[in-house]
Amino acid sequence: MSVMQDPIADEQVPDLETERLVLRAPTPDDLGDWVSQIWGDPEAMRYMPGRDEEPEAFAAGVLDFFVEVRQQRQLGAWAITLKSDGRFMGHAMLAYREAFGEPELGYALGKEFWGAGYGTEAARAVAAYGFEQADVPRIFGVVFPENEPSWRILRHLGFEYERDVTHYGFELAYYALTRQAFINS
Ligand SMILES: CC(C)(COP(=O)(O)OP(=O)(O)OC[C@H]1O[C@@H](n2cnc3c(N)ncnc32)[C@H](O)[C@@H]1OP(=O)(O)O)[C@@H](O)C(=O)NCCC(=O)NCCS
Repeated sequence: MSVMQDPIADEQVPDLETERLVLRAPTPDDLGDWVSQIWGDPEAMRYMPGRDEEPEAFAAGVLDFFVEVRQQRQLGAWAITLKSDGRFMGHAMLAYREAFGEPELGYALGKEFWGAGYGTEAARAVAAYGFEQADVPRIFGVVFPENEPSWRILRHLGFEYERDVTHYGFELAYYALTRQAFINS
């Protein structure tokens, strides 16, 4: 008797390659770098959910969440690495959120990588994956209004501010991008 496989769950979330980056599946081997670059760094965590949590435990929880997102293909989550030497830089995700009825774009990089356009490059690759491969009609992003690099990334991609929402227990600005606006941007 053959066992029926779920074709959606079996489908791989692809690696995403840009000019300078490779976005690939995160693994438990990344946890140490992930904690030192993001979850254990108060500066990187300033505008991030989990900033009051214990970094190692929080990182392990996010890894579990990312694996679940990938396995259920809802829609993707990646470690961001530097193409030239494979170094771990941070993460990006495009995760469906029931509460808002559409997928959320999220990203973070270790501070040694800030200010060189990597955040915009990674976010654009994830948005392109969402619209061109996963066929989503809209993507949202939430930011603290004070997090200028983050809302600048969203605006570069064509996102527009829609309203204030409560997400992750914070009051955040909700930005959204349609496929059409992304193609035109
Ligand atoms: C948000 C983040 C990913 C941006 O990454 P980055 O690689 O530095 O972003 P980029 O280099 O692509 O820059 C994006 C824009 O922000 C601007 N910017 C960068 N650093 C800035 C700063 N300290 N203050 C104001 N603007 C800044 C850049 O000039 C660029 O805008 P421009 O193209 O109009 O000049 C990075 O700051 C980060 O990981 N922060 C911690 C985690 C986080 O807050 N994630 C977002 C949660 S919503």
